[in-house]
Amino acid sequence: MGDLDGFLSPARSLGSPARFLDEPGSTNDDAKRWASEGAPHGALVHAERQTRGRGRLGRAWRSPPGENLCLSLVLRPTLAPSAAPTVALAAGLGLAEAVERFLPVAATVKWPNDVRVGGLKVAGVLVEGALRGASLEYVVLGVGLNVRGEAPPPGLEASATTLRAVRGRDLSRAEVLGAVLLALEARLGTLFTEGLEALLPALSARCDTLGRRVTVGDETGLAESLAPDGALVLLRDDASRVAVYAGDVVPAQGS
Ligand code: BTN
Repeated sequence: MGDLDGFLSPARSLGSPARFLDEPGSTNDDAKRWASEGAPHGALVHAERQTRGRGRLGRAWRSPPGENLCLSLVLRPTLAPSAAPTVALAAGLGLAEAVERFLPVAATVKWPNDVRVGGLKVAGVLVEGALRGASLEYVVLGVGLNVRGEAPPPGLEASATTLRAVRGRDLSRAEVLGAVLLALEARLGTLFTEGLEALLPALSARCDTLGRRVTVGDETGLAESLAPDGALVLLRDDASRVAVYAGDVVPAQGS
């Protein structure tokens, strides 16, 4: 565990109890198993490395051992199942705020929840939930954050970076983990008590997708705003609007 030895969460409701694992398949899978066995709200699973780390949209998540944060939190909010994706939006905002504390420059959110610095990704979020009947039994919030590597994982140099690379000197994962848990606690707390609308001004201000012409799946348009439910609203070339709920945002051709 190294610099995470003896870690104690500074957050009131997130990060305890905690399991620090060496090499699980995916911390999201471990957290789901633990949740189905009764893990409480806030339980944390962290891995030094994962053999089957997962990203969004069926991608793999690669993270060299000992350098980064690979964690999953068990959450038990009172939320409609359809609102589960808002957890990822609130988490992206909290993560951006947390990492910015360690950097000389701003951290932004690429919709829906990539955290970027200077246009390069430093963190990603993968939310998975389980239903009991018509309600959410639990949500697992997975976070991968590039912290101490001098460079991003091989092959990702053009699209990713690390906190250390941006800051120019080393930092402690324990310090970053503490800041992440505190920021997630604040932003998720607001989400669970007041709803996503209360986070929209802060999220919109940080969202580097807005104001650009983008393509998401089959839709292309100017990314105009975030809808109250977190969808990305595109203004199409024919002046109609469409709300998109998932997918990869890429610059529109010719933009
Ligand atoms: C993405 O940006 O595609 C989401 C990446 C999420 C990666 C984290 S690492 C910890 C947790 N366990 C996983 O298997 N995935 C998430």
